[in-house]
Amino acid sequence: MKTNPSPLRFGLIGCGAWGSHHARVIAKTNGAHLAAIAERSDENRAAAQTNHPTAKVYSDFHEMLRKEQLDAVDIVLPAHVHYEAAKASLEAGCHLLLEKPMCLQLDQCDELIALARAKKLQLAIGHEFRLSSLWGKVKEMVDEGAIGDPRYCLIELWRNPYRLGTGGWRYNIKQVGNWILEEPIHFFDLARWYFGKVGEPVSVVAFASHKRDEHPELQDNFSAMINFPNSGYAVISQTLAAYEHHQIVKLTGTRGALWASWSGAMDRTFHPTFSLKYFDGEKTQEVALTKTTGEVYELEEEIANLTAAARGGELRCATGEDGRWSVALCLKAQESVDTGKVVKF
Ligand SMILES: NC(=O)c1ccc[n+]([C@@H]2O[C@H](COP(=O)([O-])OP(=O)(O)OC[C@H]3O[C@@H](n4cnc5c(N)ncnc54)[C@H](O)[C@@H]3O)[C@@H](O)[C@H]2O)c1
Repeated sequence: MKTNPSPLRFGLIGCGAWGSHHARVIAKTNGAHLAAIAERSDENRAAAQTNHPTAKVYSDFHEMLRKEQLDAVDIVLPAHVHYEAAKASLEAGCHLLLEKPMCLQLDQCDELIALARAKKLQLAIGHEFRLSSLWGKVKEMVDEGAIGDPRYCLIELWRNPYRLGTGGWRYNIKQVGNWILEEPIHFFDLARWYFGKVGEPVSVVAFASHKRDEHPELQDNFSAMINFPNSGYAVISQTLAAYEHHQIVKLTGTRGALWASWSGAMDRTFHPTFSLKYFDGEKTQEVALTKTTGEVYELEEEIANLTAAARGGELRCATGEDGRWSVALCLKAQESVDTGKVVKF
């Protein structure tokens, strides 16, 4: 008789605004066990212990990695600490879910990819749109040829300002890297995924502006165009100077078109509205979507998928190579904003 393997022992590093959702999801995922949490802030550590009384809670992630026999680590830290924590987790022999942006530098991404490969560990990056019933359906239809060859993609976000982050790290340019690495990075990943069968990005040109003159480095408004081979291109545009959270993807190809939209009062709503419309060149139709979509739902898929992949299943999450591409696109886009030039890959 086949026995079920023991649950995967997860350690969570960083239990702030988004990490507390990761903790909630790990705790309820079949085959996963939230064994330990490392959190530096006293307040967030106390909340983590109250919400997850059976998890061992640490203030230092190095100590957690040393003392706990973990199978997997989930990193939900400010961007500037991703590399150090990811390297230590892989060196400790743990499969890894690392939130975006993978790292702030490309050589750091390279090092993590090589380390995971050498240790035969799964390395998943938190570009959760890939696990979405809505954005994933668009990908499925593009790959099935529903619109022919993709030639144009618009990804647009209208939203309220970013959260500060514990200690204000998200508004500190040295810690956040740049604001393209925060949210537009998801859209770069999405565009590259949709254009996958056409080839890798060729060049990027980007523009940005700020709302507050005392902080020109914090660019609330951002637009970029990415060129792909075969004359396809994607337009990515977002503003943080608005309200609520509304995202659209419009894709046209040589034969048809897709229009997907998602709306919520906030990004983390459990009750969003969403829809997908398909034009086959002659008529339009609504595409039925069976599952609710939104980052709180995609997070469940991510944790379940890493758990399965650690047991030998297929990794559907973004890989280290995908995470590196997204960071590269953000860095090149910032270079374009700063120089006013088209930047090639
Ligand atoms: N994929 C997504 O959709 C998504 C959504 C939100 C946030 N994120 C990412 O998640 C990460 C965290 O974002 P957040 O909004 O939760 O920020 P946050 O500031 O609310 O949480 C970060 C937590 O890490 C803790 N921390 C900082 N340094 C630490 C250290 N050395 N050791 C242990 N704990 C430490 C902080 O005390 C804080 O509790 C970021 O990388 C962000 O980009 C991803």
